[in-house]
Amino acid sequence: MSMKHKLLGLLAAAMVTTSGIAQQPRLTIEADRPGIMISPQLYGIFFEDINYGADGGLYAELVQNRSFEFHGKDALYAWSKVENGGAQVGWSVSGQDPLNPNNPHHLSLEITQPGREAGIANSGFGGIAVKAGEGFVFSVHARLRSGIPSHLKVRIVGSTGTVLGEATLAKPGPDWAKLTTTLKSKATDAHAHLELLAGGPATLDLDMVSLFPKDTWKGRPNGLRKDLVQMLSDMKPAFMRFPGGCIVEGKDLSNAYRWKDTIGDVSERKANWNRWQIAMAKALAPQYYQSYGLGFFEFFQLCEDIGASPLPIINCGMSCQFMDKQFVPVNELDPWIQDALDLIEFANGPATTIWGAKRAKMGHSKPFNLKFLGIGNEQWGNDYFDRYAKFHAALKARHPEIQLVTSAGPGPDDQWFKLAWDRLKTQPADIVDEHYYKQPEWFLSNVERYTGYDRKGPKIFAGEYAAHTAGWDGDNRCNLYAALSEAAFMTGLERNSDVVHMASYAPLFAKAGKVQWAIDLIWFDNTRVYGSPSYQVQKLYSLNRPTRLLPTRVDAAPKNFFATAGEGSNPGSLILKVVNVGPSPVQTTVAIPAWFQIKPTLNVTVLTSGSEKDENTFNDPSKVIPRENTIQLPGAEAEFQYQFPPWSLTIIKIKGK
Ligand code: AHR
Repeated sequence: MSMKHKLLGLLAAAMVTTSGIAQQPRLTIEADRPGIMISPQLYGIFFEDINYGADGGLYAELVQNRSFEFHGKDALYAWSKVENGGAQVGWSVSGQDPLNPNNPHHLSLEITQPGREAGIANSGFGGIAVKAGEGFVFSVHARLRSGIPSHLKVRIVGSTGTVLGEATLAKPGPDWAKLTTTLKSKATDAHAHLELLAGGPATLDLDMVSLFPKDTWKGRPNGLRKDLVQMLSDMKPAFMRFPGGCIVEGKDLSNAYRWKDTIGDVSERKANWNRWQIAMAKALAPQYYQSYGLGFFEFFQLCEDIGASPLPIINCGMSCQFMDKQFVPVNELDPWIQDALDLIEFANGPATTIWGAKRAKMGHSKPFNLKFLGIGNEQWGNDYFDRYAKFHAALKARHPEIQLVTSAGPGPDDQWFKLAWDRLKTQPADIVDEHYYKQPEWFLSNVERYTGYDRKGPKIFAGEYAAHTAGWDGDNRCNLYAALSEAAFMTGLERNSDVVHMASYAPLFAKAGKVQWAIDLIWFDNTRVYGSPSYQVQKLYSLNRPTRLLPTRVDAAPKNFFATAGEGSNPGSLILKVVNVGPSPVQTTVAIPAWFQIKPTLNVTVLTSGSEKDENTFNDPSKVIPRENTIQLPGAEAEFQYQFPPWSLTIIKIKGK
C-alpha cells in the first residue's frame, strides 16, 4: 500500500459518529432471504468490426486487400511490384472476366522482362508476423493469359530481405483455378512480407491471394487468431452480440451489413468498405475494408466454440442516423424482413431447407440454436418504431420462439430514449437494448438505475456500455478507475437481474495504432494481446455470476462502496462482490446468519493497483490483474473482519458448513 493510501486509511479509521463512537461499516448477507434468480445470460460480449477487430484482427488472414476490391486509388493498397535481376512488370486492376460476380476485380500482371524473377509483394496488415517453425497455408486463384512461366513460387521474406520460407505452386492454366501450397518460416519476424513470383515472360490474372497461419483457433482453415479467441473464451461469455454496432447500419444502405454477403466460399463473398473509415473525424481510416472472411457462419461457429448464445443484429431497413439516414420506405421492407427470416432458417433450419442447406454445405449440419435476434442496431425515433413494428409482426408470426431485441436509441436518458419507452407502452417487446457511454461518475451515481424499472415490462439488455474517463469524445483512458466504476454499476445489474437479462461492454477489440474508438476491452497488435482493467472486471463478473441473489445490506457504508451477493452454483456456497471506488481502505464486518456457519477458509480475489489511474499495456499487461489468495478464519464463524483495499474489486467465495 502506498504512503498516501496508508494515511487516508488512518484518517478513515479515525472518523467518528456524532456520538463520538467510531462507526465501522457492517455488510450483512441475508442468506435466509433468497431473492431473484440471476439471469444465466447476464454477462456476454459485443463484437463489431471497429478498430480493425475483424480483418487484421480476429480473422487470421495475413494478406491485406487479397481480392483487389479496395476502391479507387487504393485498389493496389498493401501491394507492390517485385522486379528482381532486371525484371520488368506491368500491372493493373482489371474487371475483365472476373472470378465471379461478387468478386468483380482481380490483378492482371504482365511480366515483360523476366530478369531473374518478377511478381508482387503484400505487406500484410502493417507487416506479416511469423515465428520460427510456424507453418502457413498459401492460396491464390490464378489463370494464365499468355506466355509460359517457368515457375510460380511463393515466399515469406523477412524485414531484412532474407527469405524465411518458400514453396512452389503448380503452373496456372487458361481458366481460373485455385492453387494451394504450404510453407514454413525458419525465423521469427514481426514485419515480414509475402512475395508471389513467376519466371519467364507471361501475363497472369491473380485474385484471392491468401496466407493463413496453420495454427488458427481449433486449426480451422479460414480460421481465427488463436490468442484473441482465447481471450474471449476465458471470459466464458453467455452470449455474443455481432456484427455490431453501427457497422450493421452502414453509412448508407448500400454500405449496410447484409449477412447473405458473408457466407459461402470466401471467394464468393461480397466485400464491403467499412463505415469506420470515415465515422470519426479525428481518426480517419481510409483503407479500412470488410473482406467478410469472418462472416455469419464463422460468428455462429465461434459462439458455439466458446459456449455463447448467438445474438445477431439485423439491419432493419435504416442506415446510420448519425451519417446518411437512408431509410427503406415502410411499404418496401419485405426483402429486408425476408433476410431476417432467412437468417433464422440459416441458423436453425434443417439441412433440407434452402438456408439450412447452405449452413450444412459449410460444414455444420446441426442447427446453431439461435434464440435471440436484434431488430436494428442503435436506431431511434418514430422512423425506427414504424419499421420495427413490421419486423416484429412478421418475425413473431413465423418464429414466436425467438426473443427479439428492440433498440432504445443511442443514449440512456435523451429525447430518443424517452420516445422509445413511450412507443413501448403500446408496442410489444421482449428485450430492450440500452446504450451508455458515460463518465465514471455517471456509472457510480446510476448503480440503482434499474431498481425503479417495471418488473412486468420488457427485459433489459445493457447492450453497449463503457466508462469514458474524459467523456465520449475526450482523451479517454482504459484505467482502473473506469473499470471500477463499471464494476460498481454491475452490482446494480446483478441485483436487478429480474429486469436486466443481458449486458455487454463495448467495443470489444482495438488494434494498437488502428483505433477509431479509444475505450476498448481487449488490445492487440500483430503478435501480442492484453486485457484492459475493464476486461478483468467483465471476466470476473462472468466467472463469478451467482445463480440466485441474496439481499445485502451495508450499514455505515462510506461513499462509493458497493456490494452484491448471491448463491454460487455449488450448494452452500456464497459469492460476495465488493467494490470500493475510493482512496481509503474500508475495514468492514461481514456478517451472515449464524446457521450458515462459515467454513474457515475463504477464497478471495482482488483486482486493484497502486493508483486508480493504472492501466495495462503491452509492456506491462499484468499491472492490473486479479490476484487470488485464501484467508483462514479462526473457526466456523457467523461474521468476520475484512479490510477492502482502496480502489478495488474484491470477490469473496464463502462456503457454509
Ligand atoms: O461501440 C461503438 C459504437 O457505439 C457502436 O457501433 C454503436 O452502436 C454505438 O454508437
